[in-house]
Amino acid sequence: MSTTTSSLSLFNGYQILSYALVIALLAYLYFKEIFSYWKDRKIQYVSPIPLFGNLLPVFLLRRNIAEQLAELYRNTTGSIVGIFMLNRPALLIRNPDIVKKLLIKNFDHFNNRSVGAGVDHARVPNGTCGLLASQDDTWKWLRKTVTPAFSASQLKSTTSDIQNVTEKTVDFIRRSSDKISGDINIRDVCSRYSIESGCSTFFGIDPKCFSSEISPYMVVNTNLFDYRLFKRGVHIAMGFISPAISKMLGLEFFHGDSTKCFVEHVRKTMIAREDNMEYRNDYLDIIREAIESYDGEGNLLFNTVEIFVANNETLAAVLTFCCFELVKNQEIQRKLRAEILEIQKDDKSIPCEELCQLKYLECFVKEVIRMYPNVPFLDRICKKDFLLDEPQLKIEEGTSVYVSLLGIHFDPEYYPEPHVFNPDRFLNDSIDWSVYLPFGKGPRMCPAKKYSEIIIKSYLASVLTNFELTKSSRTTEKMVFHTKGFTLQPSEEVFLNMQPLNNTQTVY
Ligand SMILES: *[C@@H]1O[C@H](CO)[C@@H](O)[C@H](O)[C@H]1NC(C)=O
Ligand SMILES: *[C@@H]1O[C@H](CO)[C@@H](O)[C@H](O)[C@H]1NC(C)=O
Ligand SMILES: *[C@@H]1O[C@H](CO)[C@@H](O)[C@H](O)[C@H]1NC(C)=O
Ligand SMILES: *[C@@H]1O[C@H](CO)[C@@H](O)[C@H](O)[C@H]1NC(C)=O
Ligand SMILES: *[C@@H]1O[C@H](CO)[C@@H](O)[C@H](O)[C@H]1NC(C)=O
Ligand SMILES: *[C@@H]1O[C@H](CO)[C@@H](O)[C@H](O)[C@H]1NC(C)=O
Ligand SMILES: *[C@@H]1O[C@H](CO)[C@@H](O)[C@H](O)[C@H]1NC(C)=O
Repeated sequence: MSTTTSSLSLFNGYQILSYALVIALLAYLYFKEIFSYWKDRKIQYVSPIPLFGNLLPVFLLRRNIAEQLAELYRNTTGSIVGIFMLNRPALLIRNPDIVKKLLIKNFDHFNNRSVGAGVDHARVPNGTCGLLASQDDTWKWLRKTVTPAFSASQLKSTTSDIQNVTEKTVDFIRRSSDKISGDINIRDVCSRYSIESGCSTFFGIDPKCFSSEISPYMVVNTNLFDYRLFKRGVHIAMGFISPAISKMLGLEFFHGDSTKCFVEHVRKTMIAREDNMEYRNDYLDIIREAIESYDGEGNLLFNTVEIFVANNETLAAVLTFCCFELVKNQEIQRKLRAEILEIQKDDKSIPCEELCQLKYLECFVKEVIRMYPNVPFLDRICKKDFLLDEPQLKIEEGTSVYVSLLGIHFDPEYYPEPHVFNPDRFLNDSIDWSVYLPFGKGPRMCPAKKYSEIIIKSYLASVLTNFELTKSSRTTEKMVFHTKGFTLQPSEEVFLNMQPLNNTQTVY
Protein backbone atom coordinates (compact mmCIF):
# COMPACT_ATOMS: atom_id res chain seq x y z
CA MET A 1 0.00 0.00 0.00
CA SER A 2 2.66 2.40 1.07
CA THR A 3 4.85 1.56 -1.95
CA THR A 4 1.99 2.29 -4.32
CA THR A 5 1.43 5.67 -2.75
CA SER A 6 5.09 6.61 -2.92
CA SER A 7 5.50 5.50 -6.52
CA LEU A 8 2.33 7.36 -7.34
CA SER A 9 3.60 10.54 -5.75
CA LEU A 10 6.95 9.98 -7.44
CA PHE A 11 5.16 9.76 -10.77
CA ASN A 12 3.24 12.93 -9.89
CA GLY A 13 6.48 14.56 -8.99
CA TYR A 14 7.94 13.90 -12.43
CA GLN A 15 4.77 15.01 -14.06
CA ILE A 16 4.67 18.25 -12.13
CA LEU A 17 8.32 18.83 -12.87
CA SER A 18 7.83 18.39 -16.58
CA TYR A 19 4.80 20.64 -16.59
CA ALA A 20 6.79 23.22 -14.71
CA LEU A 21 9.60 22.99 -17.24
CA VAL A 22 7.21 23.42 -20.13
CA ILE A 23 5.57 26.41 -18.46
CA ALA A 24 8.94 27.94 -17.65
CA LEU A 25 10.04 27.46 -21.26
CA LEU A 26 6.85 29.03 -22.59
CA ALA A 27 7.19 31.90 -20.15
CA TYR A 28 10.80 32.36 -21.20
CA LEU A 29 9.84 32.49 -24.88
CA TYR A 30 6.92 34.78 -24.12
CA PHE A 31 9.01 37.29 -22.22
CA LYS A 32 11.87 37.05 -24.71
CA GLU A 33 9.44 38.00 -27.44
CA ILE A 34 7.82 40.82 -25.44
CA PHE A 35 11.04 42.18 -24.06
CA SER A 36 12.50 42.61 -27.54
CA TYR A 37 9.86 45.27 -28.22
CA TRP A 38 12.05 48.34 -27.72
CA LYS A 39 15.20 46.68 -29.05
CA ASP A 40 13.39 45.91 -32.32
CA ARG A 41 12.45 49.57 -32.57
CA LYS A 42 15.99 50.72 -31.79
CA ILE A 43 14.84 52.70 -28.77
CA GLN A 44 17.05 52.76 -25.68
CA TYR A 45 15.51 50.72 -22.91
CA VAL A 46 16.14 49.48 -19.40
CA SER A 47 16.66 45.72 -19.20
CA PRO A 48 13.58 44.12 -17.67
CA ILE A 49 13.27 40.89 -15.74
CA PRO A 50 10.57 38.28 -16.43
CA LEU A 51 7.20 38.77 -14.73
CA PHE A 52 8.08 42.15 -13.24
CA GLY A 53 9.54 44.09 -16.13
CA ASN A 54 11.21 47.10 -14.54
CA LEU A 55 9.05 47.04 -11.44
CA LEU A 56 10.65 44.48 -9.16
CA PRO A 57 11.53 46.96 -6.36
CA VAL A 58 7.89 48.08 -6.34
CA PHE A 59 6.71 44.53 -5.74
CA LEU A 60 9.36 43.97 -3.11
CA LEU A 61 7.93 47.11 -1.43
CA ARG A 62 11.33 48.76 -1.57
CA ARG A 63 10.00 51.89 -3.23
CA ASN A 64 6.74 53.17 -4.66
CA ILE A 65 5.99 53.40 -8.38
CA ALA A 66 6.90 57.08 -8.48
CA GLU A 67 10.31 56.57 -6.94
CA GLN A 68 10.96 53.70 -9.30
CA LEU A 69 10.06 55.85 -12.32
CA ALA A 70 12.34 58.58 -10.94
CA GLU A 71 15.16 56.08 -10.58
CA LEU A 72 14.62 54.99 -14.19
CA TYR A 73 14.72 58.66 -15.16
CA ARG A 74 17.98 59.27 -13.27
CA ASN A 75 19.66 56.17 -14.63
CA THR A 76 19.07 57.10 -18.23
CA THR A 77 19.73 59.91 -20.69
CA GLY A 78 18.13 60.95 -23.95
CA SER A 79 14.60 61.98 -24.67
CA ILE A 80 12.62 58.76 -24.40
CA VAL A 81 13.29 55.46 -22.69
CA GLY A 82 11.60 52.14 -23.27
CA ILE A 83 10.45 50.46 -20.07
CA PHE A 84 8.27 47.51 -19.15
CA MET A 85 5.40 47.68 -16.72
CA LEU A 86 5.29 43.97 -15.95
CA ASN A 87 4.84 42.55 -19.45
CA ARG A 88 3.71 45.78 -21.05
CA PRO A 89 6.04 47.96 -23.09
CA ALA A 90 5.69 51.60 -22.04
CA LEU A 91 7.59 54.84 -22.55
CA LEU A 92 9.23 57.14 -20.06
CA ILE A 93 9.38 60.64 -21.48
CA ARG A 94 12.50 62.57 -20.46
CA ASN A 95 12.39 65.50 -22.83
CA PRO A 96 10.37 68.68 -22.09
CA ASP A 97 9.53 69.27 -25.75
CA ILE A 98 8.03 65.82 -26.09
CA VAL A 99 6.14 66.39 -22.84
CA LYS A 100 4.58 69.47 -24.42
CA LYS A 101 3.67 67.53 -27.53
CA LEU A 102 1.92 64.78 -25.63
CA LEU A 103 0.10 66.86 -23.03
CA ILE A 104 -1.08 69.70 -25.24
CA LYS A 105 -0.38 69.68 -28.95
CA ASN A 106 -1.42 66.09 -29.52
CA PHE A 107 -3.87 65.74 -26.71
CA ASP A 108 -6.31 63.97 -29.04
CA HIS A 109 -3.92 61.01 -29.15
CA PHE A 110 -3.27 60.98 -25.44
CA ASN A 111 -6.46 62.05 -23.70
CA ASN A 112 -7.00 58.74 -21.88
CA ARG A 113 -5.30 57.77 -18.65
CA SER A 114 -4.06 54.26 -17.93
CA VAL A 115 -6.12 54.19 -14.76
CA GLY A 116 -9.22 54.83 -16.81
CA ALA A 117 -8.33 52.13 -19.28
CA GLY A 118 -8.32 49.71 -16.35
CA VAL A 119 -11.97 50.33 -15.61
CA ASP A 120 -14.36 48.08 -17.40
CA HIS A 121 -16.61 50.80 -18.72
CA ALA A 122 -18.99 48.25 -20.17
CA ARG A 123 -19.40 46.48 -16.87
CA VAL A 124 -20.08 49.65 -14.92
CA PRO A 125 -22.18 51.64 -17.38
CA ASN A 126 -23.78 53.73 -14.69
CA GLY A 127 -20.67 55.78 -14.24
CA THR A 128 -18.39 54.98 -11.38
CA CYS A 129 -15.74 57.26 -12.78
CA GLY A 130 -14.89 60.77 -11.84
CA LEU A 131 -12.49 63.04 -13.65
CA LEU A 132 -9.52 60.87 -12.85
CA ALA A 133 -10.54 57.77 -14.72
CA SER A 134 -13.32 58.75 -17.09
CA GLN A 135 -12.56 58.89 -20.77
CA ASP A 136 -13.38 60.53 -24.03
CA ASP A 137 -16.82 62.13 -24.23
CA THR A 138 -17.78 61.25 -20.65
CA TRP A 139 -14.67 62.98 -19.44
CA LYS A 140 -15.21 66.01 -21.66
CA TRP A 141 -18.75 66.46 -20.43
CA LEU A 142 -17.83 65.90 -16.80
CA ARG A 143 -14.95 68.32 -16.95
CA LYS A 144 -17.09 71.01 -18.52
CA THR A 145 -19.84 70.49 -15.97
CA VAL A 146 -17.76 70.60 -12.81
CA THR A 147 -15.24 73.29 -13.77
CA PRO A 148 -17.41 76.21 -12.54
CA ALA A 149 -17.20 74.77 -9.01
CA PHE A 150 -13.48 75.55 -9.04
CA SER A 151 -13.74 79.02 -10.55
CA ALA A 152 -12.19 82.05 -8.90
CA SER A 153 -15.56 83.69 -8.25
CA GLN A 154 -16.92 80.58 -6.60
CA LEU A 155 -13.84 80.21 -4.43
CA LYS A 156 -14.06 83.81 -3.38
CA SER A 157 -17.45 83.21 -1.84
CA THR A 158 -16.00 80.46 0.33
CA THR A 159 -13.11 82.36 1.87
CA SER A 160 -15.09 82.97 5.05
CA ASP A 161 -15.68 79.21 5.39
CA ILE A 162 -11.98 78.63 5.02
CA GLN A 163 -11.22 81.28 7.58
CA ASN A 164 -13.51 79.49 10.00
CA VAL A 165 -11.61 76.29 9.38
CA THR A 166 -8.23 77.92 9.95
CA GLU A 167 -9.52 79.26 13.26
CA LYS A 168 -10.61 75.79 14.30
CA THR A 169 -7.23 74.47 13.25
CA VAL A 170 -5.29 76.94 15.35
CA ASP A 171 -7.54 76.19 18.28
CA PHE A 172 -7.07 72.45 17.76
CA ILE A 173 -3.29 72.80 17.70
CA ARG A 174 -3.36 74.78 20.94
CA ARG A 175 -5.51 72.14 22.58
CA SER A 176 -3.67 69.12 21.23
CA SER A 177 0.00 70.02 21.47
CA ASP A 178 1.58 68.01 24.18
CA LYS A 179 1.56 70.46 27.10
CA ILE A 180 5.08 69.62 28.12
CA SER A 181 6.92 68.89 24.93
CA GLY A 182 4.71 70.86 22.54
CA ASP A 183 4.85 67.83 20.27
CA ILE A 184 2.13 67.38 17.69
CA ASN A 185 1.29 64.94 14.91
CA ILE A 186 1.19 67.41 12.05
CA ARG A 187 -0.01 64.95 9.42
CA ASP A 188 -3.14 64.47 11.49
CA VAL A 189 -3.71 68.21 11.86
CA CYS A 190 -3.31 68.69 8.11
CA SER A 191 -5.79 65.89 7.31
CA ARG A 192 -8.42 67.45 9.53
CA TYR A 193 -7.87 70.88 8.06
CA SER A 194 -7.99 69.68 4.45
CA ILE A 195 -11.01 67.44 4.80
CA GLU A 196 -12.92 70.07 6.74
CA SER A 197 -12.10 72.79 4.18
CA GLY A 198 -12.94 70.54 1.24
CA CYS A 199 -16.26 69.42 2.67
CA SER A 200 -17.39 72.92 3.48
CA THR A 201 -16.17 74.49 0.24
CA PHE A 202 -17.53 71.93 -2.20
CA PHE A 203 -20.41 70.24 -0.45
CA GLY A 204 -21.45 72.61 2.32
CA ILE A 205 -21.09 69.75 4.75
CA ASP A 206 -19.65 70.16 8.25
CA PRO A 207 -17.66 66.98 8.88
CA LYS A 208 -16.71 67.99 12.45
CA CYS A 209 -13.13 66.88 11.99
CA PHE A 210 -12.05 68.89 15.04
CA SER A 211 -14.64 67.65 17.47
CA SER A 212 -13.65 65.39 20.30
CA GLU A 213 -15.68 62.50 18.92
CA ILE A 214 -14.39 60.56 15.99
CA SER A 215 -15.74 62.11 12.80
CA PRO A 216 -17.42 59.51 10.57
CA TYR A 217 -16.10 61.48 7.59
CA MET A 218 -12.54 60.90 8.68
CA VAL A 219 -13.27 57.19 8.93
CA VAL A 220 -14.87 57.00 5.50
CA ASN A 221 -12.05 59.01 4.01
CA THR A 222 -9.47 56.63 5.42
CA ASN A 223 -11.35 53.57 4.22
CA LEU A 224 -11.84 54.85 0.71
CA PHE A 225 -8.20 54.93 -0.13
CA ASP A 226 -6.18 53.03 2.42
CA TYR A 227 -3.30 52.02 0.18
CA ARG A 228 -1.40 50.78 3.21
CA LEU A 229 -3.63 47.73 3.41
CA PHE A 230 -2.11 45.11 1.18
CA LYS A 231 -5.26 44.35 -0.74
CA ARG A 232 -6.18 47.99 -1.35
CA GLY A 233 -2.58 48.73 -2.27
CA VAL A 234 -2.71 46.13 -5.02
CA HIS A 235 -6.02 47.42 -6.34
CA ILE A 236 -4.72 50.98 -6.52
CA ALA A 237 -1.27 50.25 -7.95
CA MET A 238 -2.59 47.98 -10.67
CA GLY A 239 -4.60 50.83 -12.15
CA PHE A 240 -1.31 52.42 -13.11
CA ILE A 241 0.71 49.31 -13.78
CA SER A 242 -1.61 47.17 -15.80
CA PRO A 243 -5.02 48.34 -16.97
CA ALA A 244 -5.59 44.92 -18.51
CA ILE A 245 -5.20 43.10 -15.21
CA SER A 246 -7.34 45.68 -13.38
CA LYS A 247 -10.05 45.25 -15.89
CA MET A 248 -9.89 41.47 -15.89
CA LEU A 249 -10.07 41.22 -12.11
CA GLY A 250 -12.48 44.14 -11.70
CA LEU A 251 -10.15 45.90 -9.26
CA GLU A 252 -11.48 49.03 -7.57
CA PHE A 253 -9.39 52.17 -7.33
CA PHE A 254 -11.60 53.44 -4.51
CA HIS A 255 -13.06 51.08 -1.98
CA GLY A 256 -16.50 50.08 -3.27
CA ASP A 257 -18.59 50.00 -0.09
CA SER A 258 -17.13 53.23 1.26
CA THR A 259 -17.77 54.85 -2.11
CA LYS A 260 -21.43 53.84 -1.96
CA CYS A 261 -21.70 55.10 1.58
CA PHE A 262 -20.23 58.51 0.80
CA VAL A 263 -22.16 58.94 -2.44
CA GLU A 264 -25.38 58.06 -0.67
CA HIS A 265 -24.66 60.71 1.94
CA VAL A 266 -23.97 63.32 -0.68
CA ARG A 267 -27.18 62.44 -2.47
CA LYS A 268 -29.15 62.89 0.75
CA THR A 269 -27.51 66.24 1.40
CA MET A 270 -28.43 67.29 -2.11
CA ILE A 271 -32.05 66.33 -1.64
CA ALA A 272 -32.23 68.03 1.74
CA ARG A 273 -30.98 71.23 0.18
CA GLU A 274 -33.55 71.03 -2.50
CA ASP A 275 -36.27 70.59 0.13
CA ASN A 276 -34.99 73.58 2.10
CA MET A 277 -34.50 75.60 -1.06
CA GLU A 278 -30.97 76.30 0.00
CA TYR A 279 -28.58 77.50 -2.64
CA ARG A 280 -24.81 77.95 -2.31
CA ASN A 281 -23.75 77.67 -5.93
CA ASP A 282 -21.05 75.17 -4.91
CA TYR A 283 -20.13 71.81 -6.39
CA LEU A 284 -23.26 70.19 -5.02
CA ASP A 285 -25.59 72.79 -6.49
CA ILE A 286 -23.78 72.70 -9.80
CA ILE A 287 -24.14 68.95 -10.16
CA ARG A 288 -27.72 69.02 -8.95
CA GLU A 289 -28.62 71.27 -11.83
CA ALA A 290 -26.66 69.15 -14.25
CA ILE A 291 -28.39 66.00 -13.08
CA GLU A 292 -31.77 67.59 -13.64
CA SER A 293 -30.97 68.43 -17.24
CA TYR A 294 -28.74 65.54 -18.34
CA ASP A 295 -28.23 61.94 -17.49
CA GLY A 296 -24.87 61.70 -15.81
CA GLU A 297 -25.73 61.24 -12.20
CA GLY A 298 -23.35 58.35 -11.60
CA ASN A 299 -20.23 60.12 -12.76
CA LEU A 300 -21.12 63.41 -11.14
CA LEU A 301 -21.75 61.81 -7.80
CA PHE A 302 -18.72 59.61 -8.11
CA ASN A 303 -16.57 62.64 -8.69
CA THR A 304 -17.45 63.84 -5.19
CA VAL A 305 -15.52 60.83 -3.91
CA GLU A 306 -12.45 61.92 -5.83
CA ILE A 307 -12.66 65.45 -4.46
CA PHE A 308 -13.17 64.09 -0.96
CA VAL A 309 -10.22 61.71 -1.09
CA ALA A 310 -7.92 64.19 -2.85
CA ASN A 311 -8.12 66.51 0.14
CA ASN A 312 -6.28 64.08 2.33
CA GLU A 313 -4.14 62.39 -0.29
CA THR A 314 -2.81 65.50 -1.95
CA LEU A 315 -3.50 68.68 0.01
CA ALA A 316 -2.88 67.37 3.50
CA ALA A 317 0.30 65.67 2.35
CA VAL A 318 1.62 68.86 0.76
CA LEU A 319 0.82 70.83 3.93
CA THR A 320 2.73 68.28 5.95
CA PHE A 321 5.74 68.67 3.67
CA CYS A 322 5.46 72.46 4.01
CA CYS A 323 5.61 72.22 7.79
CA PHE A 324 8.48 69.78 7.64
CA GLU A 325 10.53 72.18 5.52
CA LEU A 326 9.61 75.12 7.77
CA VAL A 327 11.08 73.25 10.69
CA LYS A 328 14.24 72.41 8.81
CA ASN A 329 14.71 75.93 7.48
CA GLN A 330 14.28 78.32 10.37
CA GLU A 331 15.59 81.32 8.46
CA ILE A 332 13.02 80.79 5.73
CA GLN A 333 10.33 80.37 8.36
CA ARG A 334 11.17 83.76 9.86
CA LYS A 335 11.25 85.42 6.48
CA LEU A 336 7.85 84.00 5.55
CA ARG A 337 6.31 85.01 8.86
CA ALA A 338 7.59 88.54 8.45
CA GLU A 339 6.14 88.75 4.95
CA ILE A 340 2.74 87.56 6.13
CA LEU A 341 2.65 89.82 9.19
CA GLU A 342 3.15 92.79 6.87
CA ILE A 343 -0.35 92.31 5.50
CA GLN A 344 -2.04 91.29 8.73
CA LYS A 345 -4.75 93.77 9.71
CA ASP A 346 -5.23 95.15 13.20
CA ASP A 347 -8.04 92.68 13.88
CA LYS A 348 -5.52 89.91 13.02
CA SER A 349 -7.29 89.02 9.78
CA ILE A 350 -5.29 88.33 6.65
CA PRO A 351 -7.09 89.18 3.41
CA CYS A 352 -7.02 86.30 0.99
CA GLU A 353 -6.33 88.39 -2.13
CA GLU A 354 -3.29 90.02 -0.57
CA LEU A 355 -2.07 86.69 0.72
CA CYS A 356 -2.19 85.23 -2.77
CA GLN A 357 0.01 88.09 -4.03
CA LEU A 358 2.86 87.50 -1.59
CA LYS A 359 5.96 86.72 -3.61
CA TYR A 360 8.08 84.85 -1.12
CA LEU A 361 5.16 82.72 0.04
CA GLU A 362 4.48 81.87 -3.58
CA CYS A 363 8.09 80.79 -4.10
CA PHE A 364 8.06 78.78 -0.88
CA VAL A 365 4.98 76.81 -1.88
CA LYS A 366 6.37 76.24 -5.35
CA GLU A 367 9.62 74.94 -3.96
CA VAL A 368 7.83 72.57 -1.58
CA ILE A 369 5.80 71.17 -4.45
CA ARG A 370 8.92 70.88 -6.57
CA MET A 371 10.63 68.72 -3.99
CA TYR A 372 7.47 66.87 -3.04
CA PRO A 373 5.38 66.66 -6.19
CA ASN A 374 2.60 64.88 -4.43
CA VAL A 375 1.17 63.49 -7.65
CA PRO A 376 4.62 62.39 -8.70
CA PHE A 377 4.11 61.21 -12.27
CA LEU A 378 1.72 61.75 -15.14
CA ASP A 379 0.39 58.90 -17.18
CA ARG A 380 -1.42 58.82 -20.48
CA ILE A 381 -2.38 55.97 -22.75
CA CYS A 382 -2.05 56.32 -26.51
CA LYS A 383 -5.44 56.17 -28.18
CA LYS A 384 -4.41 56.08 -31.82
CA ASP A 385 -0.96 55.49 -33.29
CA PHE A 386 1.23 58.55 -32.98
CA LEU A 387 4.35 59.36 -34.99
CA LEU A 388 7.15 60.88 -33.01
CA ASP A 389 9.77 62.54 -35.20
CA GLU A 390 12.70 62.91 -32.84
CA PRO A 391 13.62 60.09 -32.28
CA GLN A 392 11.55 58.48 -34.98
CA LEU A 393 9.03 56.15 -33.46
CA LYS A 394 5.49 55.07 -34.00
CA ILE A 395 3.92 55.08 -30.53
CA GLU A 396 1.34 52.37 -30.91
CA GLU A 397 -2.21 52.48 -29.72
CA GLY A 398 -2.46 51.21 -26.16
CA THR A 399 1.10 52.16 -25.19
CA SER A 400 1.27 53.98 -21.87
CA VAL A 401 3.54 56.98 -21.58
CA TYR A 402 4.82 58.27 -18.25
CA VAL A 403 6.33 61.58 -17.22
CA SER A 404 8.27 61.37 -13.97
CA LEU A 405 7.82 64.65 -12.11
CA LEU A 406 9.97 63.35 -9.29
CA GLY A 407 12.66 62.72 -11.90
CA ILE A 408 12.37 66.06 -13.70
CA HIS A 409 12.07 68.14 -10.53
CA PHE A 410 15.42 66.80 -9.33
CA ASP A 411 17.23 67.05 -12.64
CA PRO A 412 20.26 69.32 -12.10
CA GLU A 413 19.94 70.48 -15.69
CA TYR A 414 16.79 72.39 -14.71
CA TYR A 415 17.34 72.83 -11.00
CA PRO A 416 20.94 73.41 -9.88
CA GLU A 417 21.64 71.68 -6.57
CA PRO A 418 18.24 70.00 -6.69
CA HIS A 419 18.43 68.60 -3.17
CA VAL A 420 18.82 72.02 -1.59
CA PHE A 421 15.56 73.59 -0.45
CA ASN A 422 15.72 77.03 -2.02
CA PRO A 423 12.53 79.05 -2.69
CA ASP A 424 14.67 81.74 -4.36
CA ARG A 425 15.01 79.59 -7.46
CA PHE A 426 11.45 80.60 -8.33
CA LEU A 427 12.00 84.31 -7.73
CA ASN A 428 12.48 85.43 -11.29
CA ASP A 429 9.98 83.17 -13.04
CA SER A 430 12.64 81.73 -15.29
CA ILE A 431 11.48 78.11 -14.98
CA ASP A 432 9.54 76.74 -17.93
CA TRP A 433 6.28 74.96 -17.17
CA SER A 434 7.39 71.87 -19.05
CA VAL A 435 9.89 71.11 -16.29
CA TYR A 436 7.53 72.07 -13.46
CA LEU A 437 4.34 70.07 -13.63
CA PRO A 438 2.91 69.49 -10.16
CA PHE A 439 -0.65 70.00 -11.34
CA GLY A 440 -0.17 68.38 -14.72
CA LYS A 441 -0.83 70.46 -17.81
CA GLY A 442 -3.13 70.63 -20.77
CA PRO A 443 -6.84 69.89 -20.81
CA ARG A 444 -6.43 67.16 -18.18
CA MET A 445 -4.58 69.28 -15.68
CA CYS A 446 -5.86 69.47 -12.11
CA PRO A 447 -8.95 71.73 -11.99
CA ALA A 448 -8.35 72.46 -8.32
CA LYS A 449 -5.02 74.28 -8.75
CA LYS A 450 -6.37 77.63 -7.63
CA TYR A 451 -8.27 76.09 -4.74
CA SER A 452 -5.15 74.26 -3.59
CA GLU A 453 -3.14 77.46 -3.60
CA ILE A 454 -5.70 79.26 -1.47
CA ILE A 455 -5.99 76.38 0.95
CA ILE A 456 -2.24 75.95 1.32
CA LYS A 457 -1.54 79.65 1.76
CA SER A 458 -4.37 80.20 4.24
CA TYR A 459 -3.08 77.33 6.31
CA LEU A 460 0.49 78.60 6.29
CA ALA A 461 -0.62 82.11 7.15
CA SER A 462 -2.57 81.02 10.20
CA VAL A 463 0.06 78.60 11.41
CA LEU A 464 2.96 80.97 10.92
CA THR A 465 1.30 83.92 12.62
CA ASN A 466 0.34 81.83 15.64
CA PHE A 467 3.11 79.31 16.21
CA GLU A 468 6.78 78.79 16.03
CA LEU A 469 7.59 75.47 14.39
CA THR A 470 10.64 73.66 15.62
CA LYS A 471 12.13 70.20 15.77
CA SER A 472 10.91 67.84 18.44
CA SER A 473 12.65 64.73 19.65
CA ARG A 474 10.41 62.76 17.30
CA THR A 475 11.03 64.83 14.16
CA THR A 476 12.86 62.77 11.56
CA GLU A 477 15.94 64.10 9.84
CA LYS A 478 14.88 63.06 6.36
CA MET A 479 11.47 62.64 4.79
CA VAL A 480 10.98 59.05 3.70
CA PHE A 481 8.13 58.23 1.36
CA HIS A 482 5.68 55.44 1.85
CA THR A 483 6.46 52.52 -0.44
CA LYS A 484 2.84 51.87 -1.33
CA GLY A 485 0.28 54.03 -3.04
CA PHE A 486 0.93 56.31 -5.94
CA THR A 487 0.92 59.75 -4.36
CA LEU A 488 3.86 60.81 -2.24
CA GLN A 489 3.10 60.26 1.42
CA PRO A 490 5.33 60.34 4.49
CA SER A 491 6.16 56.77 5.47
CA GLU A 492 5.39 57.51 9.12
CA GLU A 493 3.56 60.06 11.18
CA VAL A 494 5.34 63.41 11.19
CA PHE A 495 5.84 65.03 14.57
CA LEU A 496 7.07 68.49 15.30
CA ASN A 497 6.94 71.11 17.96
CA MET A 498 4.53 74.03 17.80
CA GLN A 499 4.92 76.72 20.43
CA PRO A 500 2.46 79.60 20.56
CA LEU A 501 4.18 82.80 19.56
CA ASN A 502 4.44 85.42 22.27
CA ASN A 503 2.44 88.46 21.30
CA THR A 504 5.13 90.73 22.58
CA GLN A 505 7.82 88.98 20.69
CA THR A 506 9.31 91.06 17.93
CA VAL A 507 9.09 89.22 14.69
CA TYR A 508 11.66 89.94 12.07
C1 LIG B 1 20.14 52.43 -11.53
O1 LIG B 1 21.54 52.36 -11.52
C2 LIG B 1 22.07 51.78 -10.34
C3 LIG B 1 23.58 51.88 -10.42
O2 LIG B 1 24.05 51.46 -11.65
C4 LIG B 1 21.59 50.36 -10.22
O3 LIG B 1 22.07 49.79 -9.03
C5 LIG B 1 20.06 50.35 -10.18
O4 LIG B 1 19.58 49.04 -10.16
C6 LIG B 1 19.51 51.06 -11.39
N1 LIG B 1 18.07 51.16 -11.23
C7 LIG B 1 17.21 50.81 -12.14
C8 LIG B 1 15.79 51.00 -11.80
O5 LIG B 1 17.54 50.34 -13.21
C1 LIG C 1 -9.64 55.18 -24.12
O1 LIG C 1 -9.04 54.03 -23.57
C2 LIG C 1 -9.86 52.90 -23.47
C3 LIG C 1 -9.05 51.81 -22.91
O2 LIG C 1 -7.87 51.64 -23.57
C4 LIG C 1 -10.44 52.47 -24.77
O3 LIG C 1 -11.34 51.44 -24.57
C5 LIG C 1 -11.13 53.65 -25.35
O4 LIG C 1 -11.62 53.28 -26.64
C6 LIG C 1 -10.17 54.78 -25.46
N1 LIG C 1 -10.81 55.83 -26.12
C7 LIG C 1 -10.69 55.98 -27.39
C8 LIG C 1 -11.50 57.06 -28.01
O5 LIG C 1 -9.91 55.30 -28.02
C1 LIG D 1 -27.71 54.54 -11.70
O1 LIG D 1 -27.40 54.51 -10.33
C2 LIG D 1 -28.35 55.16 -9.52
C3 LIG D 1 -27.83 55.15 -8.12
O2 LIG D 1 -27.10 54.03 -7.82
C4 LIG D 1 -29.70 54.47 -9.65
O3 LIG D 1 -30.64 55.14 -8.89
C5 LIG D 1 -30.12 54.48 -11.13
O4 LIG D 1 -31.30 53.79 -11.27
C6 LIG D 1 -29.04 53.87 -11.98
N1 LIG D 1 -29.37 54.02 -13.38
C7 LIG D 1 -29.25 53.03 -14.25
C8 LIG D 1 -29.61 53.35 -15.65
O5 LIG D 1 -28.82 51.94 -13.94
C1 LIG E 1 -18.05 80.82 11.06
O1 LIG E 1 -18.14 80.52 12.42
C2 LIG E 1 -19.05 81.34 13.12
C3 LIG E 1 -18.97 81.02 14.58
O2 LIG E 1 -18.33 79.83 14.84
C4 LIG E 1 -20.44 81.12 12.56
O3 LIG E 1 -21.37 81.94 13.22
C5 LIG E 1 -20.42 81.46 11.09
O4 LIG E 1 -21.68 81.18 10.52
C6 LIG E 1 -19.37 80.65 10.38
N1 LIG E 1 -19.28 81.12 9.02
C7 LIG E 1 -19.39 80.32 8.01
C8 LIG E 1 -19.27 80.94 6.68
O5 LIG E 1 -19.56 79.13 8.13
C1 LIG F 1 -4.93 60.61 5.50
O1 LIG F 1 -3.72 60.11 4.95
C2 LIG F 1 -2.84 59.56 5.90
C3 LIG F 1 -1.55 59.21 5.21
O2 LIG F 1 -1.77 58.51 4.05
C4 LIG F 1 -3.48 58.38 6.55
O3 LIG F 1 -2.61 57.87 7.53
C5 LIG F 1 -4.78 58.79 7.21
O4 LIG F 1 -5.44 57.67 7.70
C6 LIG F 1 -5.68 59.51 6.22
N1 LIG F 1 -6.77 60.07 6.96
C7 LIG F 1 -7.97 60.18 6.47
C8 LIG F 1 -8.97 60.77 7.36
O5 LIG F 1 -8.25 59.79 5.34
C1 LIG G 1 17.30 84.74 -12.63
O1 LIG G 1 17.37 84.04 -13.84
C2 LIG G 1 18.64 84.08 -14.47
C3 LIG G 1 18.51 83.35 -15.78
O2 LIG G 1 17.96 82.12 -15.64
C4 LIG G 1 19.68 83.47 -13.57
O3 LIG G 1 20.93 83.52 -14.19
C5 LIG G 1 19.71 84.22 -12.27
O4 LIG G 1 20.64 83.65 -11.39
C6 LIG G 1 18.34 84.24 -11.64
N1 LIG G 1 18.33 85.05 -10.45
C7 LIG G 1 17.93 84.56 -9.28
C8 LIG G 1 17.92 85.53 -8.16
O5 LIG G 1 17.60 83.43 -9.12
C1 LIG H 1 7.61 83.12 25.01
O1 LIG H 1 8.01 83.70 26.21
C2 LIG H 1 8.40 82.80 27.24
C3 LIG H 1 8.67 83.56 28.50
O2 LIG H 1 9.33 84.75 28.23
C4 LIG H 1 9.60 81.99 26.75
O3 LIG H 1 9.98 81.06 27.72
C5 LIG H 1 9.22 81.29 25.46
O4 LIG H 1 10.34 80.59 24.94
C6 LIG H 1 8.71 82.26 24.42
N1 LIG H 1 8.21 81.53 23.29
C7 LIG H 1 8.65 81.72 22.08
C8 LIG H 1 8.03 80.88 21.00
O5 LIG H 1 9.49 82.49 21.80
